[in-house]
Amino acid sequence: MLNFLVDQEKCTKCEDCIKDCPVGIIAFSPEYPDIIEGKEDECISCQHCFTICEPGAISIFGLNPDESMPLKGNLPNGKQMECLIKGRRSIRHYEMEPVDSNTISHLLKVVANGPTSMNDQLLFTVIEDQETMKKVRDDVMEGIREAIVTSNLPPGSEFFDSILNAWDNGQDVVFRHAPHILIVSSPDYVPSPEPDAVIALSYFELLAQSVGLGTTWCNLAEWAVASIIPDMKRKLNIPDSHIIGYIMLFGKPAVTYYRTVQRNNVKLNRVVWTD
Ligand SMILES: Cc1cc2nc3c(=O)[nH]c(=O)nc-3n(C[C@H](O)[C@H](O)[C@H](O)COP(=O)(O)O)c2cc1C
Ligand code: SF4
Ligand code: SF4
Repeated sequence: MLNFLVDQEKCTKCEDCIKDCPVGIIAFSPEYPDIIEGKEDECISCQHCFTICEPGAISIFGLNPDESMPLKGNLPNGKQMECLIKGRRSIRHYEMEPVDSNTISHLLKVVANGPTSMNDQLLFTVIEDQETMKKVRDDVMEGIREAIVTSNLPPGSEFFDSILNAWDNGQDVVFRHAPHILIVSSPDYVPSPEPDAVIALSYFELLAQSVGLGTTWCNLAEWAVASIIPDMKRKLNIPDSHIIGYIMLFGKPAVTYYRTVQRNNVKLNRVVWTD
């Protein structure tokens, strides 16, 4: 049930909702827009109708347009976005103090507004509690040790040997002593689980860094969980049918950066078709 409602007092009959619905299921019926009979199931939950209606006449899924943030005057400008993208860093030194739970919930609620191939399918698994974080860290490293001792390291991951040595000497190369882990997964039936997760984590990274938090894309943890210790998925309550898209570490950074990077050598393949 889409619960598509149009406030007739507000609707100007501009047709924007009709033209912008990506699956073409809105039409005048007869005077005001409505979902075409029998087409409700084709809705992809994109909320384009809801967000394009300038007077805020549409409600769908029980949403109130007055509770959305207006875009006019609220968007960051190009310079601010450029600074955020170029100023973002991978953090490898974290404060021990955890991020408060409300901040984490708020960031994830915002990130859940990002694009996915099927709208609303991502699972955000987050470790907030420091005892749990320690257990996960220890368990992953012991899993790596077990794989090394029993010669069960997958080919290509022999470098975990030196990572384990570092761990035994107090260095956490995998989790960088970060206070939190964020894992994004999707059910295996969605069209593109990995890109969905990577997009969500990219948004999370930029948003987190905009509020002074640090993040690290964690190839090593992803590798360990996906190919060395698959049992970890069960321990983290991630459904068996889910594909882990990627893993990110985050927390308060213990380092400060003062300027943007200058990776300006963009490799550009600009095509002009010639027969
Ligand atoms: C997909 C991906 C996986 C990464 N995995 C790790 C990792 O396992 N450990 C780590 O310390 N850094 C990891 N990084 C961080 C990169 O090394 C880092 O992005 C690169 O050196 C550039 O530095 P910057 O992110 O500060 O610009 C990863 C980055 C990406 C995009
Ligand atoms: S976008 Fe809003 S104002 Fe325009 S026709 Fe649709 S409901 Fe009416
Ligand atoms: S949510 Fe998207 S697909 Fe569904 S009716 Fe609105 S515009 Fe169309």
